[in-house]
Amino acid sequence: MTDTTPAEPAARPIPTERRCPFDPPEEVGRLRAEQPISRLAYPDGAQGWLVTEYATARRLLADSRFSSRLELQHSPIRTPEPEPTPPGMFIFMDPPEHTRYRKLLTGQFTLRRMRQLEPRIAEFAEGLLDEMERHGAPADLVRHFALPLPSLVICELLGIPSEQREFFQHYTAEMVRPDLSPEQSAEIDRVVFGFLGELVARKRAAPTDDILSGLLVEDELSDDEAMGMVTILLVAGHETTANMLGLGTFALLEHPEQLAALRADPGLIDGAVEELLRYLSIVQYEINRTALEDVELDGQLIRAGEPVTVSLPGANRDPARFDRPDELDVTASQARQHLAFGHGVHQCLGQQLARAEMRIGYAALVRRFPGLRLEVAREDVPMRTDRGIYGVHQLPISW
Ligand code: HEM
Repeated sequence: MTDTTPAEPAARPIPTERRCPFDPPEEVGRLRAEQPISRLAYPDGAQGWLVTEYATARRLLADSRFSSRLELQHSPIRTPEPEPTPPGMFIFMDPPEHTRYRKLLTGQFTLRRMRQLEPRIAEFAEGLLDEMERHGAPADLVRHFALPLPSLVICELLGIPSEQREFFQHYTAEMVRPDLSPEQSAEIDRVVFGFLGELVARKRAAPTDDILSGLLVEDELSDDEAMGMVTILLVAGHETTANMLGLGTFALLEHPEQLAALRADPGLIDGAVEELLRYLSIVQYEINRTALEDVELDGQLIRAGEPVTVSLPGANRDPARFDRPDELDVTASQARQHLAFGHGVHQCLGQQLARAEMRIGYAALVRRFPGLRLEVAREDVPMRTDRGIYGVHQLPISW
């Protein structure tokens, strides 16, 4: 008897080639139209699945049969050595372990703290733009504004004293430099994590009014657990917000009618932030899960142990969910329930803070630099195509 089962489509590496700096790779759109859960080949040799459709992505991210544990994870762009989840790094844990740490940190992101932070964010933004103005055009918006703003906000969250902020800012900017060798990268990590270790020890000995001190006072966290949580704040809160500020500005400059609308009516800023989050979906390759048991997801059998990667850029451009998915429209934002901050138990814990940084950051930039323009051709802006977090390495601007 001949076997009539159709051959399973071959697993392919994750699509990374983008034609337009703001759109997902075309291949992602094609896959979504043809097979919303498609075979994916990981660089470590594993075979799993890529989800490109909005509804499927939401269902998967809310399903506790898929794990976030680091030791089970495969990355579509890297071949890391399998390693156990470090203490406190709850982004790589499943409930109930995850729940304890997440609750602890949520308890520190109080309304009072967020209210206190907003005027500080505005001060930081104005101060950085003053410096950029003094430096004069042309300037790199990433170096002068997009990278240091979230770094200063993290200094504030962690209660890093002002005399150490320059050091912290310098090294957090070094961490995301595009040209580092693995040795240089390891050395920078050693300096930053050494600094954070000392900070934990100091806050334990003499707590102040900040999130880190609050965490140490509230619960019996070991130093390693506290370090894990601080590391997540830095890793999850810096590169992401910096790239939204950089790439978001690039997108506005390339959509002059949208920039003009925002300039004419600053009240559009909240919707503009949501629309930019949806349109750009910078977390491009980092949403990885592993099936803990056999799961049938939208008609596709995913076997226990198989990795799944969710394409947030794919989901947030799904025409089945958004009427004009490929249009950036800050005047009538269609971004409600976008997935740029993820979904389910791991949904971004810093999203209100990130929104405040973007709202305040874009608004200050647009207000202060009416002649803002790109200093190079659009094709010459160096893009972070191969990084887990998409964005721009540099954004040369004039005004
Ligand atoms: C988790 C996006 C800014 C803290 C996440 C996740 C996404 C995300 C997609 C989910 C990861 C997953 O499901 O595996 C973003 C974007 C940001 C941003 C696009 C900026 C525009 C921030 C900021 C902070 C932060 C400013 C805090 C300082 C966190 C934490 C988690 C997280 C702690 C882990 C939550 C958990 O595992 O329960 N973020 N994030 N993020 N984010 Fe953000």
